[in-house]
Amino acid sequence: MEVRYVVEERYDLGRLVTFIPNKSLPRHRWFFFKEGFSRDFVGLMLSRFGAGRGDTVLDPFVGVGTTCLTCRELGLDSVGVDVSPLFTMVARVKVRDYYVDKLRGLRDGLREERFRRPGIEHVKGFLRQLFSRYALEDLIFLRELINAKIQDEEYREFFLLALMKAAEETSYIYRDGAVVKVRRDIPKPPSLRRMFFRIVKKMIKDVEDHPLKPCEAVIIQGDARRLDMIEDESIDYIITSPPYLNKIEYTKVYWPEYELFFPGGKEAPMRSYLGLNPRNIPKDPLPDVELPPVARAYFHDLNDALAEMYRVLRRGGRAAVVIGGGVFPDKVVEVDIPCAYLAELNGFEVDRIIAVNKRVATTRRVIKIGETRESIVLLSKG
Ligand SMILES: C[S@@+](CC[C@H](N)C(=O)[O-])C[C@H]1O[C@@H](n2cnc3c(N)ncnc32)[C@H](O)[C@@H]1O
Repeated sequence: MEVRYVVEERYDLGRLVTFIPNKSLPRHRWFFFKEGFSRDFVGLMLSRFGAGRGDTVLDPFVGVGTTCLTCRELGLDSVGVDVSPLFTMVARVKVRDYYVDKLRGLRDGLREERFRRPGIEHVKGFLRQLFSRYALEDLIFLRELINAKIQDEEYREFFLLALMKAAEETSYIYRDGAVVKVRRDIPKPPSLRRMFFRIVKKMIKDVEDHPLKPCEAVIIQGDARRLDMIEDESIDYIITSPPYLNKIEYTKVYWPEYELFFPGGKEAPMRSYLGLNPRNIPKDPLPDVELPPVARAYFHDLNDALAEMYRVLRRGGRAAVVIGGGVFPDKVVEVDIPCAYLAELNGFEVDRIIAVNKRVATTRRVIKIGETRESIVLLSKG
């Protein structure tokens, strides 16, 4: 791989590629996703591209829906794909239109139901330790009630998302990187039932106060490496962020949500495919580069995803790919330059690589082995 790209430095943009600015934004705040980027980042890319009404934007790694929700706020059509049933559910709930009166009616119906103590014996092991007995009883009671009483799937998912958020906020869950731990420093967690209705109230207010523009957002559970559901050259712009190399495996961090809200979901193709199977590399796109096996598999899969992005993008279309380097026990593997190189192999022109964050990489938390970059790779299809 011949390296001839210039990496510009714009660390003032660093915060935009994090989820932090979304934390206070209507609808975006319905689910906190540490690995997401921000509405403002999507807005910045769309204005840089000159996107407008009538254009269609794709995010093949849509996560909790930031790209599609921003497009709905601005009046652009969008398509979001993600492999995770949890994240596609979150994204769907965020980008939908709702009738506020219907939401209020359903909420009142749930509130009127008398609490019946459910059995919690089937909740075992570590999951049991993540909640107080009262929180778990409330959670199971409300989950069963929502599933039994709300027939309309779109509205049912709205309330299930509120319950997921209430469960997290009243639990002992503490996510440390890819690991779920038990937090012991909360003396008495607040009532889950009360938290649930408080969250529902806020979500309904968001819907009421911030209506979305009349345009389409389609969220699909699928694999970015095989976008068969999207026609050739049907997309105007792509804004996306694939999983970061050797970072977190999303289903691991959110296993309590999967166990509680997607029982049996383990059979579903919900894993972060990119880079998970180091042995399955039919055609190595970087044969001359020395790489750990996981990184080799990652670039193989990233190459497939880039090939699909190129296929579905129209001529003159543009893409922004946010990507971060990977830390291995003895070295750092940069991803932005190989990503640009693979994009070119697939036919893209590389407009720019902009480094927006850099971090010291350590092994065993103390020994410095280098620096990782988080970058925006800007591409176009000539
Ligand atoms: C960095 S996150 C994207 C976050 C997103 N920008 C947001 O703001 O929510 C990467 C996403 O890629 C998804 N993913 C992993 N492998 C995938 C694949 N093969 N196809 C589609 N999505 C995949 C993960 O589930 C995760 O949601």
